Amino acid sequence: MVEIINVVIGAVWLMLPAYIANPTAVVFGGGTPLDLGKNWRDGRRILGNGKTIRGLIGGTACGIIIGLIQIQLPLFPNFARFTYIAIITLSFGALLGYIVKSFFKRRLGFARGAQFPLVDQLDFVAGAWVLTYIFDPQWFTSNFTFEIIIAVLILTPVLHRITNIFGYYIKLKKEPW
Ligand code: CTP
Ligand code: MG
Repeated sequence: MVEIINVVIGAVWLMLPAYIANPTAVVFGGGTPLDLGKNWRDGRRILGNGKTIRGLIGGTACGIIIGLIQIQLPLFPNFARFTYIAIITLSFGALLGYIVKSFFKRRLGFARGAQFPLVDQLDFVAGAWVLTYIFDPQWFTSNFTFEIIIAVLILTPVLHRITNIFGYYIKLKKEPW
């Protein structure tokens, strides 16, 4: 039991920059869309109005700030200390995952905000992991053990759901997912 709790807390600690980047992109979002309102060849928006420059910059910055605090607070000596690369790739990668997801949602004809189960919950995890693995494979592999990866995959959809229901009630999000 203690072991499971340790893995869960470790998973949240390691994913924190990504977990923070996501909702703060919603808080800071709005204004000019990343695709500048342009359409793709299929006549649909490239990304849609749900992906904005402000959201991308604000979310990435908040994730990095949390990561900088985490570097100063090595609370978990059993994990390798965060690297500067890792806090950038976790934050930016999370939002890049969001963007890639929206691109494919638009190509599949999903309206902005339409639900895409599981993909909506794990897109940012995939983005954060892929980018971190590319730029800091040593940090990634020494921290993301099999147990941590499983914990993140189980925990994230739950946390995501709770955050989004909360965001919906405080009227930050248009949909509770
Ligand atoms: N957001 C933003 N910029 C980003 C990411 C998110 O402005 N780079 C904001 C937008 O206001 C967006 C909200 O966060 O509506 C929620 O993000 P998400 O659920 O990914 O977007 P959706 O509006 O649901 O659009 P999509 O169908 O493309 O997922
Ligand atoms: Mg959405």
